[in-house]
This record gives sequence, C-alpha cells and structure tokens, in this order.
Amino acid sequence: MHTGIDELLEKYWHIPGGLVPLLQEVQKVHGYLSREILEKIASGMGISLAKVAGVATFYHQFHLTPRGRYIIKVCMGTACHVRGAAEVLFAMEDELGIKVGHTTPDLTFTLDQVACLGACGLAPVITINDETYGKLTPGQVPKLIEKYREEAAVVH
Ligand code: FES
Repeated sequence: MHTGIDELLEKYWHIPGGLVPLLQEVQKVHGYLSREILEKIASGMGISLAKVAGVATFYHQFHLTPRGRYIIKVCMGTACHVRGAAEVLFAMEDELGIKVGHTTPDLTFTLDQVACLGACGLAPVITINDETYGKLTPGQVPKLIEKYREEAAVVH
C-alpha cells in the first residue's frame, strides 16, 4: 500500500535535512501525506510524529489531504487579476461545486489559486496538471471541465 516508502527512507534517513526531500518524494508517489504515512516516516527516521507533522504543515507544498487527479491552478497574480481571474475562479467553483483550496468528493479535481504562473501575456491563465490555458473567460470554463470529466471517465 505504501509503495516505495521503505526505499525512500533508506535513501534519506541518515542525511541531515533529509526530511523535506523525503516528504517531497513520498508525496510525488502517493499524491498526499496521510497521517499513516507521516507516522511511518517518523518511526523510520527515529523522530517524533510532531516533528514530521510540523514540517509537513509548515511548507505549503505539502498536502495532508487527498488531491484530485487533475490539479487546477487559477492564477490570481496582478496581470491575471486585472483581466478577470476572479470571475474565472468563481466560474470554476460553480462548475466544480467546491471552494478554492478543496478537492471534489470523487477526487477528480483539486482547485487551487496561485500567485503567478509566469505566463502573464496570456492572462487570465490557468493550468490543469501540465496544460496551460490562457485568455480564459468564465464562459469557457464548463466546456473545459467537461473535457476533463470525460477524460477521467475513460481513464477509470
Ligand atoms: S499574473 Fe497570471 S501568469 Fe503572471
């Protein structure tokens, strides 16, 4: 069930400052860091669960709850903001039925907001996993999400 954690522990347990890269790699494999995973890491590294949980909650990059198959990042940076990013975000929330920062109950989508995706010329910009969508209007959101819903249905 926890594929690869033992191997990763083996790789990092003796390295000073190895906890953060270990958590990064484990999250890459498992998608998020469950309490069970944090406990396993704590016992494997010989440190307290409080310490591991402290690091995992300190850094924004770590997720302690399950994430969706598709991670949607809506840019709320200045360039996107002035070109209507908030409306795009609201349209996403409406379409997905969740608030920003949350994941749909079926674990298909996670909706996040970020500061700048580095593609300001395309504002407003979002990414869905590795795909970038620029000059997005709220009206385009339902169709875009539908495309991913269909893809998820095929993959399942
Ligand atoms: S502000 Fe949105 S991509 Fe830079």
